[in-house]
Amino acid sequence: MADQHAPSPVDAPPSMVPALRWDEPPEGPVLVLLDQTRLPVEEVELVCTDVPALVGAIRTLAVRGAPLLGIAGAYGVALAAARGFDVDDAAQSLAGARPTAVNLGYGVRRALEAYRRALDASGDLASAAAGALAEARRLHREDAEGSAAMGAAGLALLDELLPGGNHRILTHCNTGALVSGGDGTAFAVALAAHRAGRLRRLWVDETRPLLQGARLTAYEAARNGMAYTLLTDSAAGSLFAAGEVDAVLIGADRIAADGSVANKVGSYPLAVLARYHHVPFVVVAPTTTIDPDTADGASIEVEQRPGQEVTEVMAPQTAGAEVGGALPVAPLGTQAYNPAFDITPPELVTALVTEHGALSPVTGSGIADLCARSRPA
Ligand code: MRU
Repeated sequence: MADQHAPSPVDAPPSMVPALRWDEPPEGPVLVLLDQTRLPVEEVELVCTDVPALVGAIRTLAVRGAPLLGIAGAYGVALAAARGFDVDDAAQSLAGARPTAVNLGYGVRRALEAYRRALDASGDLASAAAGALAEARRLHREDAEGSAAMGAAGLALLDELLPGGNHRILTHCNTGALVSGGDGTAFAVALAAHRAGRLRRLWVDETRPLLQGARLTAYEAARNGMAYTLLTDSAAGSLFAAGEVDAVLIGADRIAADGSVANKVGSYPLAVLARYHHVPFVVVAPTTTIDPDTADGASIEVEQRPGQEVTEVMAPQTAGAEVGGALPVAPLGTQAYNPAFDITPPELVTALVTEHGALSPVTGSGIADLCARSRPA
């Protein structure tokens, strides 16, 4: 079951409510999510006491973004174990909640394997639950560390590609602390540039249809005092043509063995624009987002979302109001094409930044080396 804590105003404290936290109130363990569907209007926590509530939160994008989905999946297994639910069932429904971000299945698997190892060693369910929780916490910590490493490596790459600093960076979707145990992926690089005094402007694509850029990235940029400007996705072309973009930084939901990148729909057109305008197109993602078992871009399953997300827009919300209001923006019965992600081929990616540094060019053998380094046999 999911429950909601009292909201707090968005523009009050500079520190952000964590995207996700484990808590152990007297009534039993819970996973507490910052409900991202309510941002930026209000910061509302969603308290998950069971796996169906967490699966629902994943499907509605209350919790979202590849690395955070992995962390949420791992804590979901820990929640099932701690509350005495069927852990295998829980793992299966969590892993299947969304298909594209490989991190979700990865996080679920890590916690499930830790649970089984602890159960085999102790024969005791409480120890097995503790094993799953410890693994979820480890993944959460590793993600924060990876984020810091990607921020530093990405900034070093930007400085190399664009000597002189003063970077104008275009980003798409949301890749900051809301999707991570740390500062995120692509956003972590922009934030590192900002902290080093080398970010002139962050261009934020609004990211139709669910507006992760407008609602979430702009919120994070404002919180961090960054110079940012919001644009409609379709305005990116004229921004490039005006020479206003020095680099594009995006995250990834799954990177295939050949280096193809699945990310929020609208990423591929940016890669094409960037190539035409001779602007570096950089993907920033932890190695947990690489899926060596998916051969190429065509083999990546792209999530198709309901057409209403396109034919309706979210009604303006006010703090404390019920969520779910929608305004039609197309005639009733209009069919919509609504893939959540698109695929960028590796030849359009200037570099892939992971916690191990930058890979450029992005090739199948480079990806295989990265996998060997990050997942020793
Ligand atoms: O549908 P979403 O909001 O979960 O999509 C998120 C993205 O596409 C992000 O760019 C991606 O997960 C990388 S986050 C570091």
